[in-house]
Amino acid sequence: MITKRTVYLKLLLIFSLLFTVAQSASPLSQEPVSSNSFPQPRIACGPWIQAASETEFTVVWETNVPCISWVEVAPDDGTHFYVTERPKHYESWHGRRPVTTLHNVRIKGLEPGKAYRYRVFQQALVLDEGNKRMVFGEAFGNNFNFTKIEFKASTLDSSRPESRFTIVNDIHANDSLFRKLTKDVVKNKNNFVFFNGDMLSQIESTQQIVDGYMQSASELFSPFTPIFAIRGNHEHRGSASYDFMRWFPTSTGKTYYTFRDGPAFYIALDCGEDKPDSDIRYYGLSLTDQLREEQAEWLKQVVASDEFKSAPVKIVFLHIPPFSKGGVWHGTSEIIRLFMPILNDAGIDLMLSGHLHSHHFLEKGAAGNNFPIVINPNSTRLDAIADKNGINLKIVNADGKVLHDHQINKQ
Ligand SMILES: [Fe+2]
Repeated sequence: MITKRTVYLKLLLIFSLLFTVAQSASPLSQEPVSSNSFPQPRIACGPWIQAASETEFTVVWETNVPCISWVEVAPDDGTHFYVTERPKHYESWHGRRPVTTLHNVRIKGLEPGKAYRYRVFQQALVLDEGNKRMVFGEAFGNNFNFTKIEFKASTLDSSRPESRFTIVNDIHANDSLFRKLTKDVVKNKNNFVFFNGDMLSQIESTQQIVDGYMQSASELFSPFTPIFAIRGNHEHRGSASYDFMRWFPTSTGKTYYTFRDGPAFYIALDCGEDKPDSDIRYYGLSLTDQLREEQAEWLKQVVASDEFKSAPVKIVFLHIPPFSKGGVWHGTSEIIRLFMPILNDAGIDLMLSGHLHSHHFLEKGAAGNNFPIVINPNSTRLDAIADKNGINLKIVNADGKVLHDHQINKQ
């Protein structure tokens, strides 16, 4: 029996179908989505300067969405950035620009000890139809600011009489402490900042790097003062630990490297894990015995080089010191076995370490060391000035109070 209600429902269904067909055929539905639908590309974290040398540095930053990017560089000569077209530097992954959220642009051809202004640009990928069409959105410089020159960084300089730097270590994601310790990095005219390991307790996501310290570093100093970083034992852990080298690239492409600034030649070593690689906490993933063996072979070549031998001052960064407060663990024992014989014969002036979360000053000979070792706690920064006569070290707490003052004289 056909009721009025059934007729009504059938008519409603027919009208709905006609409307849907009409709408899908409408030219309006083929229009591109409004650009307002796409997030504007912006700097999510950074920029920061990595792997600085006398003639090069790498600009690293993170964007909120996948982008292509470039960096424009101008000398710090008082001219307007727009006086001429500035050279553009691109990231290349084997001959192709990457679409990525972490940007890593090497700037080459710079001069020693010179300041350079730079701007970072990002352009979001808004449509990817493979071979058919690939569309990038509007380019943004820095953070939506086209005219203000925000960033300026300097190359290293082997001819300057002193090299000035500050160290933090064992921050373990204590961002508020990190901010207090690093708030005066720029004011104190440091030539670089050194992250001496265990900045996080593990790297489960790169967002932990941002939240743990890099967002603060970006706000306080990293666009202006180069950073050098090494892994502590804790940076070996976590499912995003593999990303460490993209976030903190080095001149060697390895987690160990050297650099020269002022009279000092710096060697940055990777301590590896503290426990045996077979420990249950590493889930069978750790190969740091192998890493330390490889590194020792590389270290022999470093200390045999003219660049190393000719430097007036020689300083080593190593998160785990060759010394322990309460019984040596496997990592420390391997450092003593593999690195110390090479370093003890190389005329090293100073080793700077962390890991123990307490202050120690080890005189030459105190623990089989042929050079002094200073261990910075987890609650302080270490300010250093190296000149041809030696190194002055000040261990400073979060209130700016100098707790320890060490003068290491060249022998
Ligand atoms: Fe550690």
